[in-house]
Amino acid sequence: MIQYKTIDEIGKMRQAGRIVAACHREIGMRIKPGVTTLEIDRFVEGYMLKCGARPVQKGYKGYPYATCASVGEVVCHGFPQDAPLLEGELVTIDMVAELDGWMADSAWTYAVGRVDRETQRLMNATKFALYQGIKKAVAGNRIGDIGYAVQTVADGEKYAVVEAFIGHGIGRRLHEDPQVHHRGKAGTGKRLREGMVITIEPIFVRGYPDITIDADGWTARTFDGSWGAQYEHTVAVTSSGPLILTD
Ligand code: MF3
Ligand code: CO
Repeated sequence: MIQYKTIDEIGKMRQAGRIVAACHREIGMRIKPGVTTLEIDRFVEGYMLKCGARPVQKGYKGYPYATCASVGEVVCHGFPQDAPLLEGELVTIDMVAELDGWMADSAWTYAVGRVDRETQRLMNATKFALYQGIKKAVAGNRIGDIGYAVQTVADGEKYAVVEAFIGHGIGRRLHEDPQVHHRGKAGTGKRLREGMVITIEPIFVRGYPDITIDADGWTARTFDGSWGAQYEHTVAVTSSGPLILTD
């Protein structure tokens, strides 16, 4: 069942989103060769607690950290590591904050130092696809319009969409209805209405989108070693259009 939010509730989610956005800005300034993702994780946990927020991922279904830190061919749900990031790598940091009972979720891919042109192109296309999807988060449209907009970018740029991970409704709980697939048919699926709050979080890869999960039950890596990029915002459907809560 979709939980529609009032303007007031969206305002509260916006406050949670501001904390997540502030973490991402800090991370953007900190990521460089030699930094470890455990350091980043400790920073995020401390920052959220200092703000009076809860790092939702820690303890979620037994997940042990405040952030997911996915490097290279790990495309999702990687554990933060005590190993230095290396020049040229890609790392995706995913996090959720809860403030006064309301949540916001955002993931972002960072380049470690300088990355090659192909890797930069993968990042650009994935980020562009997120914003193309967000543009469709308008009352009256359908969920399939979002997936279609995302997949159109992937197809046009010859990337594959990792379909094992999808966006979701979010509010008092991390995963609410509806599901938000990153491939879809325009004009199909649930109708978008004012008060819906969803995440859009496409993962693109250069090679095959099939993944395997490590023995830890979380770490998702591509079968063929292709690197992934992922960009995620929490977005509210409002009378004045899509409202990004996590920037
Ligand atoms: N932010 C992720 C999401 O989109 C949460 C990953 S699961 C967790 O749903 F265990 F890491 F929290
Ligand atoms: Co999410």
